[in-house]
Amino acid sequence: MSPSTRSESVREVRVLSVVGTRPQFVKLGPVHTALLRAGVDHVVVHTGQHYDPLMSTSFYADLALPAPDVHLGVGSMSACAQVASMMLACEAPLRELRPDVVVNYGDTNSTLAGALAAVKCDLPSVHVEAGVRSFDQTMPEEINRICVDHVSALCLAPTPTAVQNLVAEGLGDRTQLVGDVMADRLRMTLQTVDDSDVAPGVDLDRPFILATVHRPENTDDADRLRSVLDALAASHVPVILPAHPRLIDRASAAGLQLERGAISVTDPLSHRSLIATLRRARAVVTDSGGVPKEAHLLGIPCTTLRSTTEWPETLADGANVLCPDPEHVIQTALRSVDTKPHDISTSAAESVAAAILERFGSTP
Ligand code: UD1
Repeated sequence: MSPSTRSESVREVRVLSVVGTRPQFVKLGPVHTALLRAGVDHVVVHTGQHYDPLMSTSFYADLALPAPDVHLGVGSMSACAQVASMMLACEAPLRELRPDVVVNYGDTNSTLAGALAAVKCDLPSVHVEAGVRSFDQTMPEEINRICVDHVSALCLAPTPTAVQNLVAEGLGDRTQLVGDVMADRLRMTLQTVDDSDVAPGVDLDRPFILATVHRPENTDDADRLRSVLDALAASHVPVILPAHPRLIDRASAAGLQLERGAISVTDPLSHRSLIATLRRARAVVTDSGGVPKEAHLLGIPCTTLRSTTEWPETLADGANVLCPDPEHVIQTALRSVDTKPHDISTSAAESVAAAILERFGSTP
């Protein structure tokens, strides 16, 4: 739908969400439901950062999300060009749809572009998942998170640690603790999955490791990527590896085969399939931001193939261990640890909607 054809119905508040990547579609779902329940006119703009059907449209169908109202179609390019193009493309819908507030989720280039475009169009930005920090500024996501928090009018934090981080950066007066929309999402997803959703090729009668690898720090250097794949291939427990396009692209450029030894490769999984597979895994090895959180909530032992995490809570009970050295990753993954599921009877998305309405609810 073009911006100008959307109905100008009488409304209390119009919220425009900017999304563009898998983790943002995952977070959008519960917030969209809560905003509609609160009577908000909710418009969704998709930047196009993720565009392959398995990275984008299939997520919409899988998560029962409405089609985006506006698709900017930006796609893959250098980070500078991508952020600039998304900002530029956002301007027309922001000006034409005249939302009261623009909501940005997480820490991707789409998050940064959405927040900067909003404030440059004199619209307030709200950041969902504010205050999350890895304290590693070599990560593009860390720069995105910091910038978005500092330009946003309202920082909605998922955890007390995130609140502390925002207070330490002088942003306490714009911060509210709302809880974790990922926990809301997980609860919603678990209600709909069963073993028929488990990734193809998994033998549920045998223990297996689920692995995901897509961070530039693990994929973009050929030697590093080779040692990661060698370690996974040498596992004595089968490894199921849903391959992100970046992994396929970088492995192919480096002349590295993905499917070898213990590794079975699948296409990128839908969210439901990822959760169905994760909850049956003996362990997960990942460099994702979201998967360690989901593993922690489900009580599945996680090994993070990085030296930092933006979710320190997951380290507290030993459920997640940082293991930047690929050589030790399988041994660490198969450690014996007593993990247990955590509470997902949350209502973070309702708190997001309430915070937005409280702050921006009465338009003149
Ligand atoms: C982005 C996010 C990352 C998030 C991840 C989830 C940033 C800086 N990074 O990383 O935080 O964890 O999404 O998946 O925003 N590609 C395709 N098809 C697609 C999308 C990408 O082939 O639909 C390929 C392209 O070669 C592209 C590469 O993947 O250059 C990387 O994509 P990009 O969106 O830049 O970053 P991600 O690695 O997906």
